[in-house]
Amino acid sequence: MKALSTRHLLGIKDLTENDIQLIFETADNFKEVINRPIKKVPSLRDITVANLFFESSTRTRVSFELAERRLSADIVNFTASSSSVSKGETLLDTVNNILAMKVDMVVMRHPAPGACAFLSRHIPANIINAGDGTHEHPTQALLDAYSIRERLGDVAGKKIAIIGDILHSRVALSNVFCLQKLGAHVRVCGPPTLIPKHYAALGVEVSHNVRQTLEWCDVANVLRIQLERQDIRYFPSLREYHQYFGITRQMLDALQRDIVVMHPGPINRGVELTSDVADSRQSIILQQVENGVAIRMAVLYLLAAERT
Ligand code: CP
Repeated sequence: MKALSTRHLLGIKDLTENDIQLIFETADNFKEVINRPIKKVPSLRDITVANLFFESSTRTRVSFELAERRLSADIVNFTASSSSVSKGETLLDTVNNILAMKVDMVVMRHPAPGACAFLSRHIPANIINAGDGTHEHPTQALLDAYSIRERLGDVAGKKIAIIGDILHSRVALSNVFCLQKLGAHVRVCGPPTLIPKHYAALGVEVSHNVRQTLEWCDVANVLRIQLERQDIRYFPSLREYHQYFGITRQMLDALQRDIVVMHPGPINRGVELTSDVADSRQSIILQQVENGVAIRMAVLYLLAAERT
């Protein structure tokens, strides 16, 4: 059986192109499974997975839990707000106490960049990063690239624009690493205050002109304005942001050809894009969510291979 080159999924940066292709091929098989009347397989029977969410989540949390259930894993769910973290317990103490109950794999979302890498150095379980602060969100990038491959046949050679709040986005960084490893051309676009200087050094194009970027790209992956992470004002108002960087139906209709529109969610409707774009036939936003289950099944299955 083919195996991943790593025993954790901490970030796309650590994966090889072969790893990504293996995850996609495995997800193809699981996508077929989850469309059957009986959606469950016994692949992770006797494996216990802890889902540790120290930050809010809808898509990622539900999708990991569904993936684990469809693989027949035993599941422990933990949310920081209802735990002893609120009494001052450290991350390592919290996780070691959970591991003492014989947990094999940990899926963790945490506000601190590097929190998953820290855990991987201290505990024996396989760690899957479900989003660490503004650093990486590897399974989101995998499902995004998988959805592009599904819609356009391949990722290599495609022009992909990532538009919006790049500064506060873990999805942007993981997408850049993933798309580049798969041979896509990547451009980031947004206000100068929301694009960190180091992105140019990653080998991506940088633009502040959304109309030109839409003319250039095959796919626009539109990101949320993350007001909850913004400690200062990066633009005058949401209304002005929408006026200069929001994607509207009129902008898409003015293009010479149909582009694909993506968004990792949650969407701020009327800010980064309008509802008639989000819900249009060019949008693959709900296909991204659907593909998230197959991608997460593939990641769990491949990382658990050493234990089964
Ligand atoms: N895309 C994403 O990570 O969404 P959630 O925050 O709802 O998990």
